[in-house]
Formats: sequence, structure tokens, C-alpha cells
Amino acid sequence: MEVLLAKHAGFCFGVKRAIEIALKAAREYPPAFTLGPLIHNPQEVERLKGEGLGVINSLSEVPPGATVVIPSHGFPPEALDEASRMGLRIVDATCPLVKRCQELAEEHRREGLFTVVVGDPDHTEVRGILGHAGPQAVAVPGADALPADLPREVGVICQTTQTAGLLASVAAALSRRDIALRLHNTICRATAQRQAAAADLAGIVDVMLVVGGKNSSNTRRLAEACAGTGTPTFHVETAEEVDPGFVLRARRVGVTAGASTPGWVVEALLERLRAL
Ligand code: F3S
Repeated sequence: MEVLLAKHAGFCFGVKRAIEIALKAAREYPPAFTLGPLIHNPQEVERLKGEGLGVINSLSEVPPGATVVIPSHGFPPEALDEASRMGLRIVDATCPLVKRCQELAEEHRREGLFTVVVGDPDHTEVRGILGHAGPQAVAVPGADALPADLPREVGVICQTTQTAGLLASVAAALSRRDIALRLHNTICRATAQRQAAAADLAGIVDVMLVVGGKNSSNTRRLAEACAGTGTPTFHVETAEEVDPGFVLRARRVGVTAGASTPGWVVEALLERLRAL
């Protein structure tokens, strides 16, 4: 059985940068905690705990004088204001590309422009962008979710890990309603590269394995891109989750990994596949 790894897979620059910033904070200003997971990969978050980086779900859990690290996918501004009021040290590990979405949302708010955020309304990144956009904004996971009542002009921002197809379908639905668009394609390059490389590889193998957090938006999109080619696709978090039945009779197996999947998790998966 031949095992092939996608040309672009695994950690993106925003995730690498967030881990470097957070570990530096844990070393220099302990105790340090991230507000929610630093990245959407439970195995790496667990490893980071061993390096002194805790995780809290609410600011009320933070001991006085502690350091709070803002995760790579950002946070709504109200949480940052509250942390400042509590006198906590804040270290911002938000990916610069997510920050760009937040700045665009603020720009819309200042200009009184209504914002449509294309993405998962429950995802922290999207909640953060909405927080910066203010009350004149809505998040939609797809064109079907667009509200019936919208202004004649809207600004469109996309969650960084969505697909170009989804953004295009929402933009087309708005245009059909004669709504003028200020369209920002904020899908990040790392995401687009990983999706294209995953689909290319899925097209030439018998089975695809996508490794990464089940809570990771970009990893789920990769699995969708692979499954969309018609090739049987399995999304796993770890090598242990690989059932030999997945690759039974496969001559070629393709592997890809989300932007938040560390190299050591990918390596363990490749080793297990080679041993089967
Ligand atoms: Fe940033 Fe894109 Fe990674 S938005 S965190 S570089 S997936």
C-alpha cells in the first residue's frame, strides 16, 4: 500500500505563531491560560498544558494577576474589555488574518455599513468578528440562512477557513436580490492551498484520511473537499482512530491534515498506515 501526503498539510503560519507567543507568555508571565483552546486540536492543547499553558472557559476562572492569552481564532472585544477591567495581563495570539477580518468589521461599523459574515455562527472566530461589527451584522452558514430583510448595501466578510464556493454562493444570492456588495475575500491562503491540495490528492487515491481536531473548522472543510471528489474519506483525530478496515484493499491512501494539526500527530498517523 502506497501512502501519499498532500502537498500542503498541517500547521499554518498563524497557528505556529500563536503557539510561539503563548509558550513565551507561559514562560515569562506565569500562570498563563488561554481563553478557550489556543487552537482547535485537543492533542496539541493537552501537550501545551504540560508546558504550563492552561485553558479556561470563562474569565471568572482566572486567578488574580494571571496572564490571559487570546487564541489564534480571536475573541469578541467585550471579553478583552472585561479582562482589562479585571487587571489581567493580556497577550494577543490572534492570527493576523483573523485580525484583518475584525478590522474590516470595525470599518463597516464606523461607516454604518451592515455586515454579513459567511461562516459558522457558533465558531469563536465568527463570534469575534460579529463582536467587532456591532449590532448591524449577521452570520450565515450559507445562502439559505440570509435574512429576508437586508439593507440595499452590505459588506461581506468570510470566516478565514471557509471555501471559496460557499462565499461565492452567498455573494451570488445577495446580488440576485440587487443588494450592492462590498465583498472581502478573507479566506486565508493556507486554507485555500490545503483545500486544493487535498482535493487533488483525493482524485488519485483509493481512500483519503484527514487528520485533525473534530472541532476544527478548516479540518472539517478538508474532509468535505476530499469527500466531494467521490473518494471514500475518513476524518480522524489520532492514529489510534484508524480502523484497518478503512484502508482494506486500497492500493493508494492519501493523507492530509488541518492547519491546526501538529506534525507529531501527522507522523504518528503515517507510521501506523505504513505498519498496516
Ligand atoms: Fe490564520 Fe489561516 Fe492559520 S487564518 S490561523 S493562517 S488557517
